[in-house]
Amino acid sequence: MNSLQVRSPLTAIMSALPEEQQDLLDRLENPQRQNVAGRDFWLGHLQGHFLILGLSRIGKVSASLTAAILISHFGASRIVFTGVAGGLGPGVKVGDVVVGQDFIQHDLDASPLFPRYEVPLYGRSLFRCDPALTALLAGATRRALGADGAAASPLVAGARVHSGLIASGDRFVASAAESGALQASLRKAGHEALAVEMEGAAVAQVCADYSLPFAAIRTISDRADDTAHVDFPRFVKEVASQYALTIINELLQSLPPA
Ligand code: ADE
Repeated sequence: MNSLQVRSPLTAIMSALPEEQQDLLDRLENPQRQNVAGRDFWLGHLQGHFLILGLSRIGKVSASLTAAILISHFGASRIVFTGVAGGLGPGVKVGDVVVGQDFIQHDLDASPLFPRYEVPLYGRSLFRCDPALTALLAGATRRALGADGAAASPLVAGARVHSGLIASGDRFVASAAESGALQASLRKAGHEALAVEMEGAAVAQVCADYSLPFAAIRTISDRADDTAHVDFPRFVKEVASQYALTIINELLQSLPPA
């Protein structure tokens, strides 16, 4: 076990990349770093909440390990993921935020043994986010974006908040043809995904395994189309960290102790 005195409740905030986490880390009070499995984790306080910041890195395997460490090593009591995604749904544009209601692995296919997208031996394709934590996160996101007219300086003018299904897979989707095929295939199985990214479904599954509340927001950095490889790095560098800080700040104001 770690040498730090870990007190419950401990809220974990996960991001994929250091650039997405930096503004939060800069505000963390008395930050203490611990390295586990080659990953830096930061413990500290923000607005009276005891937090741990963790990086998932990119992809489902890396994200699963980070989530498992947060839970079983540090004793996190809930996990909130803030990151970016490619927009899939019509009207889900760059600068908008998607609040995850469910997650699916778009690259999981054990057919014909199991139906396409079904996670073998779980009997389901969708992993649901915690309704109560998700409602708080959605409210925080609306306030941060000024979607209810409350924010003094909305992050991006006209940005909208969407709620729904997010698809995860070990692939950066970088062409209109690929995102169209992905969307069509999900639709054929009855799923309408709003956004695509590379970690969320893995973290949702780990949290389900540990019966731990999970919630996630994804800011749209690109449209998963032919310019995604240009739009993504620019957005991550210039905007994503501010979104994470502003939304988490709002969330912490409404978050009860775990
Ligand atoms: N994260 C952000 N944009 C993405 C994309 N186009 N594909 C997969 N993950 C992403």
